[in-house]
Amino acid sequence: IFGAERKNSKGLNMNIISESEPFFAALEKFKDTQWSAGPLVNGETLSGEVRDVVSPYNTTLKVGQVAFASEAAIEQAIAGADKAFASWCRTPVETRANALQKLADLLEENREELIALCTREAGKSIQDGIDEVREAVDFCRYYAVQAKKMMSKPELLPGPTGELNELFLQGRGVFVCISPWNFPLAIFLGQVAAALATGNTVIAKPAEQTCLIGFRAVQLAHEAGIPKDVLQFLPGTGALVGAKLTSDERIGGVCFTGSTTTAKVINRALAGRDGAIIPLIAETGGQNAMVVDSTSQPEQVVNDVVSSAFTSAGQRCSALRVLYLQEDIAERVLDVLKGAMDELTLGNPGSVKTDVGPVIDAAAKANLNAHIDHIKQVGRLIHQLSLPEGTENGHFVAPTAVEIDSIKVLTKENFGPILHVVRYKAADLQKVIDDINSTGFGLTLGIHSRNEGHALEVADKVNVGNVYINRNQIGAVVGVQPFGGQGLSGTGPKAGGPHYLTRFVTEKTRTNNI
Ligand code: NAD
Ligand code: ALA
Repeated sequence: IFGAERKNSKGLNMNIISESEPFFAALEKFKDTQWSAGPLVNGETLSGEVRDVVSPYNTTLKVGQVAFASEAAIEQAIAGADKAFASWCRTPVETRANALQKLADLLEENREELIALCTREAGKSIQDGIDEVREAVDFCRYYAVQAKKMMSKPELLPGPTGELNELFLQGRGVFVCISPWNFPLAIFLGQVAAALATGNTVIAKPAEQTCLIGFRAVQLAHEAGIPKDVLQFLPGTGALVGAKLTSDERIGGVCFTGSTTTAKVINRALAGRDGAIIPLIAETGGQNAMVVDSTSQPEQVVNDVVSSAFTSAGQRCSALRVLYLQEDIAERVLDVLKGAMDELTLGNPGSVKTDVGPVIDAAAKANLNAHIDHIKQVGRLIHQLSLPEGTENGHFVAPTAVEIDSIKVLTKENFGPILHVVRYKAADLQKVIDDINSTGFGLTLGIHSRNEGHALEVADKVNVGNVYINRNQIGAVVGVQPFGGQGLSGTGPKAGGPHYLTRFVTEKTRTNNI
């Protein structure tokens, strides 16, 4: 379906034994590996304050260690990327694109190590790890092709006889790429690939929880031919590394994915600093709803609800948070839902049987459990799983479903395996739509209905970036469902879509009368 110019990665089908057996054998080799990472500045790994990295699944298991960037490392990285820009922005787009294609190949060649890192450092399930590598590959290939389309030749513009008018697109300078821990490879590299393809140099700051994965990805990018001063890597906290980078007047743009709160902090930092007015691309959180009417098929609804709410332990910006059930169908759906939740396997993300792994860290676990305690008081518990033995040393949160009266009792995004359910009467559909819109978020929306006119009306009236009808609402595919939200959920343009790269470039016309 993608034509000759590009194909999405095929990933891995675990049901095909001839594919899965060698995969698991290769994965096994990394079960005890200890990784280490540090600031990678002009190709040199610098020292810094060293922290142990432990598994979110079991904090007594060490995964490696990371040195956080010092202020001196930050300064060197900015100076290096700034100097490298003049040459990288004049490097032919075909050369830049070829390096990204090579990076995609290397990601596939190193798939098992990267998946092992995703399960061990980020607590991702094996299936999530497979999808993570696949999406990272897709981003590299997609942006390589898009950049060539946009930048290979200047656009010729009309003019009087003898005058040549051309429009050029160019990189903007040093792009700061700041990413979250929940897609530590795909979003991390997606941002980097977009900025590099368009001729920017990059300083990549991973989330502090997932520096090992980011480090390995940058090593592979250098191996693929991205010059070492063109792509710099600075592990560290948002408060130090993120704040220093976004207040520096030498940077040319910021690509951020993370919480809405942090996006606003960065926006203020950019507004308050000296230097040019530069773009901020921010993809942020959501309060995502699914609206289910009484024409729907309960078993299909529940399948999609469970996948949307509990995959990745609910740690997806796209995840379902508020399920609206038309009252005529609600009891039946909730009955099936309880049974389906009981089928979920919680535990070690490194086991292929696990559906729901840990949340990322102790702070996330404490926040989510506090919310569960609170919302059980405000609403009515529908179902909650028990945590199995063997999860005591990890950051596990029990998947929970709670009925509430209104989405308005939710004052923030709850980034974990917690599903809220609201019943509605058919006559109140407009109120449902207004309530969803009143949150100000606008990321994903699920709809279940066999009445197409009805489904399309809801799709039209709810202000979100990605609508999914009669399926789950997670797992956007590069080039198929360009991903990103509206309002509090992000600035756009959508990642993995045809307009994304336009924010990474600046325009220049040349009128030539020679
Ligand atoms: P976060 O906002 O806490 O952190 C994201 C990144 O910002 C990290 O690298 C962090 O170190 C950095 N940061 C923190 N403070 C900073 C500052 N003052 N200046 C500069 N950088 C700073 O988010 P998180 O907890 O890592 O990720 C989860 C959030 O990300 C959720 O809200 C989720 O919805 C959102 N998310 C959105 C998308 C999307 O595409 N819309 C995708 C994934 C995650
Ligand atoms: N792009 C990710 C998804 O759709 C966040 O689930």
